[in-house]
Amino acid sequence: MVKSAQITIDGKTFEFPVVEGTEHELAIDIGKLRAQTGVITLDPGFKNTGSTSSAITFLNGEEGILRYRGYSIEDLAEKSTFLEVAYLLIYGELPSKSEFDKFKEDIKYHTLVHEDIKTILTGFPSNAHPMGVLSSLVTSLTAFYPESLDPNRSREGVDLSIARIIAKLPTFAAWSYKNQKGQPVVYPRNELEYVPNFLRMMFALPTEDYEVNPVVARALDQLLILHADHEQNCSTSTVRIVGSSQASLFASISAGINALWGPLHGGANQAVIEMLENIRKDGGDTKKWMDKAKDKNDPFRLMGFGHRVYKNFDPRARILKKAADDVLESLGVVDPVLDIAKGLEEVALSDEYFIERKLYPNVDFYSGIIYRALGIPVDMFTVMFALGRLPGWIAQWKEMRESGEPIGRPRQVYIGHPARDYTPIDKR
Ligand code: SDX
Repeated sequence: MVKSAQITIDGKTFEFPVVEGTEHELAIDIGKLRAQTGVITLDPGFKNTGSTSSAITFLNGEEGILRYRGYSIEDLAEKSTFLEVAYLLIYGELPSKSEFDKFKEDIKYHTLVHEDIKTILTGFPSNAHPMGVLSSLVTSLTAFYPESLDPNRSREGVDLSIARIIAKLPTFAAWSYKNQKGQPVVYPRNELEYVPNFLRMMFALPTEDYEVNPVVARALDQLLILHADHEQNCSTSTVRIVGSSQASLFASISAGINALWGPLHGGANQAVIEMLENIRKDGGDTKKWMDKAKDKNDPFRLMGFGHRVYKNFDPRARILKKAADDVLESLGVVDPVLDIAKGLEEVALSDEYFIERKLYPNVDFYSGIIYRALGIPVDMFTVMFALGRLPGWIAQWKEMRESGEPIGRPRQVYIGHPARDYTPIDKR
């Protein structure tokens, strides 16, 4: 049964179609609202506004459900690998063996970067935040591959750009870390799989061999799967709107990296560890910090808690909480902030303020504890988030391009001065 919605403005009633998604979620299609009524909607932060129809990721915030192309995040995190999930998100189906082998070979072929990019890298001071280095190096790809500037080029051309950015982002990420440490960069070795190759570029030194720990590699692969896509979050919406102007894939991904950087979004995993460390140094009084988080006059927020969509447990946080225990035990790591994190979670889940506002741990609450156990430095945590989210950004950019969506250009309600005449400076 076709559903519709009626809006009455100054006594006049207008009817608009209601669209229904695969999981029966409903949306009022207001595509002709202004043309028919002369009015627009207003929704700062787009809390109630759908920007697109997408077939990539489904999440249900009330029930804590997350699926990539219909497959549950629990299944994929347990049974799949990051590159297989990347293929699924980007091309819509799990690959056959031959498709997957070709995808992996294409990526291995492009892990090296132009030597001149090292000149850009070493131009950054060692205190440069790796996220700024990462977005800059990604933008530099537009200079080394000018043919990539045309987003309308052949399917093969777009697939080449996709392989290049998936292949080179780990190299850029590891090199940004080496630049920070003042160490020589380590080149990719293509006999290694994707995550071990990254770990070796991060931690190997010219003076000694480096053996990748399989527990670390598997844990990191699972972390990347959990971060791979999340429908129309802040950074993905940024990638889509930048790409809607027909900016290139590399330019759109660089914009997404910068949007992810913010502490309210991907930067939260770094902020969580810094918060937990502060609480530990302050004596571990979780009640004091919970009170601060609830105090309207105190800007402090419990980082890693709350979510725009999840009003139940973030399913990724549930998986990560168990993974944190497993990885730390397996590596024999004891991290005092893990107990503080669990203590905060326990108190928050029984606190009226958090219950009333449906604030639960999100993906960033436990991920930092695992990254730290894997030896990843804190200011690289958001870079790890970007590595994970890359296939999602690519898939969403590709879907937006292939669906021929118009350039994104929201309207506004003007609340500034009414018309007024210019007054010369000697008359002001
Ligand atoms: C990610 O969108 C995505 O999908 C993002 C992400 C992805 O995979 O791409 O899931 C990744 O970004 C996870 C979120 C990481 N950010 C943080 O952990 C930062 C801390 N969280 C908050 O800043 C906040 O919860 C947000 C930003 C995540 C969501 O903010 P909203 O939806 O705009 O909610 P809000 O700020 O309007 O808060 C509603 C109420 C407010 O209180 P009242 O004004 O109603 O009294 O809840 C309070 C807020 O003050 N609140 C918090 C809180 N989060 C919300 N109070 C204390 N601590 C918090 N963390």
